[in-house]
Parts: sequence; C-alpha cells; structure tokens
Amino acid sequence: MAEMQKKPVKIVETVLRDAHQSLLATRMSTDQMLPIIEKMDKVGYHAVECWGGATFDASLRFLKEDPWERLRKLRDGFKNTKLQMLFRGQNILGYNHYSDDVVEYFVQKSLANGIDIIRIFDCLNDLRNLKTAVDATNKEGGHVQVALSYTLGDAYTLDYWKNIARELEEMGCHSICIKDMAGLLTPYKADELVKALKEGTKLPIDLHTHYTSGVASMTYLKAVEAGCEIIDCAMSPLALGTSQPATEVMAETFRGTIYDPGFDQNLLAEIADYFTPIREQALKSGLLDPKVMGVNIKTLQYQVPGGMLSNLVSQLKEANASDKYRQVLEEIPRVRKDFGEPPLVTPSSQIVVTQAVLNVLAGERYKMVTKESKKIMMGEFGQTVKPFNKEVQKKIIGDATPITCRPADLIPPQLPKFEAECAQWKQQDEDVLSYALFPAVAKEFFELREAKQTKVDQKQADKENKVYPV
Ligand code: CO
Repeated sequence: MAEMQKKPVKIVETVLRDAHQSLLATRMSTDQMLPIIEKMDKVGYHAVECWGGATFDASLRFLKEDPWERLRKLRDGFKNTKLQMLFRGQNILGYNHYSDDVVEYFVQKSLANGIDIIRIFDCLNDLRNLKTAVDATNKEGGHVQVALSYTLGDAYTLDYWKNIARELEEMGCHSICIKDMAGLLTPYKADELVKALKEGTKLPIDLHTHYTSGVASMTYLKAVEAGCEIIDCAMSPLALGTSQPATEVMAETFRGTIYDPGFDQNLLAEIADYFTPIREQALKSGLLDPKVMGVNIKTLQYQVPGGMLSNLVSQLKEANASDKYRQVLEEIPRVRKDFGEPPLVTPSSQIVVTQAVLNVLAGERYKMVTKESKKIMMGEFGQTVKPFNKEVQKKIIGDATPITCRPADLIPPQLPKFEAECAQWKQQDEDVLSYALFPAVAKEFFELREAKQTKVDQKQADKENKVYPV
C-alpha cells in the first residue's frame, strides 16, 4: 500500500494579537513580546498574527506606544516567520468607513513595515467593502486573505458561503479564512462548511475560532479532516476561554498522522514557560478575569463574541442596571433581526448590543437610538444579507433615503486633510495614519512623545555639558 500523502496542518500563532486581545484587554506591550520572538521564530509557524485588530488602538491609547515601531521591532526579530495582521476592510483598524486613499496608504505602509499576510474582513460580509484593501494588498505584493465573518441565521446557508468563496477567488484573494469570532461553529458543522467551501474554491482555507463555547479543538479536528489547511492557535498560557485552542494541544493531536505539523514540544514548552508568568501576573492584577476562562455555552444562543459579553456586564453595571442582563441578552437577537441579521463582530457587535441595551433601559424599543444605529439603517455600513425591518428603519431614519452604493464611494479623499491636521506633530510618514484612525488619541500620543524627547534631549545636553564644560 502506498504511503498516505502528507498534508501537515499549518498553524497561525495568535498569542501576540488575538489571544491577549481576547483575554488581557489587548494590553501586552512590545517589551513583553520581544524577549521570546527569537524562539517563536524557530517553531515553524505558518504565520504569527501580531498586529492589527484592536492592538493598534490599544498601543496608542493605553500603552502609549507607537504601533508602527512595534511592527518594525517584530519584523526585525522574526527572520523566518511570516507576520500577519487583521484589517477591518474599509474601517481599516477603526470603527468608521474611510476613503479609499487612506485604506490604500494604510495597506502600503503595513506591508512596507513588515506585514506579509493581511487578513481582511467586513462586519456585514459586504464584499464591496473589501475590494479596495484587497486590490491594494495585491498591488503591493502582499498575501491577501479575506475572512468571512461567520454567523448563524436563515440567510447563512452552505450555498451562501460557497458562493462568497467563489466570488473571493475571482476578486484576487490568496486564501480564505472562516472567522468564527463567537465560537459558534460546532465540529460537524465545520466538516460541512469546509467541504462546501472546497466546492466553491481551490484556495486554502484557514479556520479561526474562539474557545468560548468549549467546542473549538474538536471543531479544528473535524475541519482539518475535511480539508481545512490552516488553523489559528494560541500558546497554552493564553489559550482557551475567549481565546483560541492551544498550539501545543493541536500539534500533539495531529502527531504521527498525515496532518502532523512537526512542531518540537520542548521548544513549545520553553515558549509557554515565558508566557506563564504573564498570565499569572494578569490573574493577580485582575486584568485576566477567570470568568472568561470557562465554557460559556450561552454564546451559541446569543451569538455575541466573548469580549462583548464582558463589555455588556460592565456597561449595565455602570448604568446601575445589572438586573437587566438577561433581558438585554434576549433583546440582542431581535435587534440583530431588525438590522438585517448581520454577523456580530466589530463594529456591528458594538452597535447591536448598545442598541439592545437602550431598547431595554428606555422601556420602549428604538425610543433612543445611537448615531451608529442610524448609520446602519442608512446603509452607511453597506448591505446586509437580509432586508432591514422596514418599520424599525422608518422609526430610526424617518423619511431619509438610505444609500445603496458602496459607502466609501461617497467619501472624498481624506488623506490631504489628515496630513494638514497632523503636520505639526509628524515625525514619520506613518503618523498621518495613526492620526486618521484615532485623531484625539494620536494627538495625545504625539504630544507625549515630544515631551519625552525634549526630556531626553535636555538630559543629553546636561551630560555633554558636564563632560565638556564650556
Ligand atoms: Co478572533
């Protein structure tokens, strides 16, 4: 009998991006990452996801770090491993749509500073919102991976996913990711889904899920057996709970089979030893809440990504309405339906959950609405798979006429304006992009940076004056 053909599963390591975003409120600093990357570079990962998503905002806002500098340092350290980032389509790494020139420039600078693979998604799976980022990545010679925001609902049939996969291949993607941000994909459904996608496309399939509902490792096993080539995992100290399945566990699961990635468990153990104190410290400080480490099967019922559930708890606590938690959870699927049944992922998850909270707290549905709810109903985030609830739409936007074109078609070039506004702080080309995404936060960061430099310059001058007295 001929030996079975080897198909080693490719593993994307998420510990430097999604894992700490899901468990540690995205607070891992560059200094915490750098000492271990030489070892991580030897594992043989398909890629290390280390940038984008919420890390950009969190670096500037909370860690007072330049995200671009982080990327350059990671690039310097990872000599052999591809670096991957998460990119929110026309929203880039922010929460609103940007003009095409900003999207293109961001892609260009991400690749120029060291990213190899850009994972691009849209919260409504409106492919028009991906096109500019996809084309820009291709133009710059990067690997384009489009992530489908996975969700459940009448509209989301196997044919729906299969057709999207076909369209993405035509659009110029190099691989397709199933982005299961809430951990909704169960093992046998994964088997069906991967097989359906394979009928629609020849592109490699990457599965990204979260452990929230407790089924994720089994889901990976069935997906790989069904033909999925790439899985996203996190080193064990920052795995499970609302994060990904553990890298060591998945590597061991496939050992000795045709899917064996061939990882060295001793090397993985050394890497895990590095992250263990970071986990313990976070548990001690309360940054890592043991609550997010358990199994939450309710996520299957409400479809809310793990991180959003903890946000909701604190939102209600602040409003002195913790007793309304269950009512809000039940309102979320109703709002989602009214809003055309979108996947719940940034920023649609925040919009739907916030509106559900308002509906419950106001005692009347849509008596109070957010600016973002209006935007969704105006078509300003793009097209949903199902139509909006007309009555609700009327209540929210009145007689205004919603747009039906690609939202960014109505946004004139923004780059010149951002360049002019941030010129006074600019020290590198990339600063304009930090400013474009988070103007207030970036301004504060730039001022802090200048203040620090003045201090250093002063110290240096003092020192020189002492050595060479005039
Ligand atoms: Co994720």
